Amino acid sequence: MELFNGYVIGNYKRFPVCLVRGEGSYVWDAEGNRYLDFFPGWGCNLLGHCPRRVVEAVREQVGELIHVPNTWYMEAQGLLAQALSERSFGGQCFFCNSGAEAVEAAIKLARLHGRPHRYKIIAMLHSFHGRTFGALSATGQPKYHQGFEPLLPGFRHVPFGDVQAVADAIDEETCAILVEPIQGEGGIRIAPAGYLAGLRELADRHDLLLIFDEVQSGMGRTGRWFAYQHWDVAPDVMTLAKALAGGLAAGAVIARQEVAAKLQPGMHAATFGGNPIACRAALATIQTIEEEGLLERAVAIGARFRQHLEAVQRSCPLIRELRICGAMIGIELHGDGTPIVQRCLERRLLVNCTQQTVIRLLPALTITDEQIDAGCQILAAVLHEAAAQTSVPSTH
Ligand SMILES: Cc1ncc(COP(=O)(O)O)c(C=O)c1O
Repeated sequence: MELFNGYVIGNYKRFPVCLVRGEGSYVWDAEGNRYLDFFPGWGCNLLGHCPRRVVEAVREQVGELIHVPNTWYMEAQGLLAQALSERSFGGQCFFCNSGAEAVEAAIKLARLHGRPHRYKIIAMLHSFHGRTFGALSATGQPKYHQGFEPLLPGFRHVPFGDVQAVADAIDEETCAILVEPIQGEGGIRIAPAGYLAGLRELADRHDLLLIFDEVQSGMGRTGRWFAYQHWDVAPDVMTLAKALAGGLAAGAVIARQEVAAKLQPGMHAATFGGNPIACRAALATIQTIEEEGLLERAVAIGARFRQHLEAVQRSCPLIRELRICGAMIGIELHGDGTPIVQRCLERRLLVNCTQQTVIRLLPALTITDEQIDAGCQILAAVLHEAAAQTSVPSTH
């Protein structure tokens, strides 16, 4: 921690804990304490910490070829592109290393689609798309913009879930609509019925690209490969990262063939994008999800959390609303959630708070029922204690 204070830029709020080892849904700190992790790797560790197939694939690959640039063909990248295409809407892939980079590539595709006169993108309030300038400009939360203006021009933000607001925002310079089917950082806000279909219709009518940011909701977390599949509405472009490579840095954009074809040699690149280690890790992630039936498991995980949390909600007035889709879980509170995170940490349970009032859980799809039960028991105790100490509205 002293090293950090001296040498690492302080742009993160860190808990005073140094993690040294992880296995499944458990992590250990340098003092040997074990924590149950309901938020492994901010959603990146979809299979838990150090999943076997991913570890083996990386170990094998690292001894064969660590990195080669995209001036050469490599088998793993081709296989991964095929695997993602076949599980989504049959598009072609570009690989990068993070969610923000994937969003940047999607913005470039939108600009190419809109040429020569259209460049505006309609994005949603409370969205989160990353910290690079394009992705930041797309993010519909002014708090992240502060200090960095002027941003990239051309983004218009409208309320999430409101098709008419998007329709009203379209003008002759609009080229795309960008939306998370489930807003993650925005507090696990799930697209209402008919919303994505309404956006698809608008996109078709006005020749706009429909871009789904599935950086947080993709790769099986919600019980489908991609969250949009719950609504059966396909995008033209989709962004992925976080869980894509089972915890290794990787990002991807998938685009319908006609859209992808606009990206010609020299127009976009990422030096480390699609490197063999990340691609092998991603292929091992997909294999694990399929061989262990983890899409079905994600649904069961959501149901078990719901059962526990609804029981807590009945007796704990602090809970305002539960929003759950598979292993994407938001517990909206009437008050500040940060003390809840702290108290859970003291009891060796790791959870997250977003938007100040939403406890966010993104558990691994390999979590056991016993671990869910144990963690929910801690969370219930902490919420009840907090409720006893705060005054909350009597109706909830
Ligand atoms: C939906 C969404 N898009 C983009 C990003 C940015 O990803 P990264 O932090 O890998 O750049 C995030 C990160 O939380 C996200 O949730």
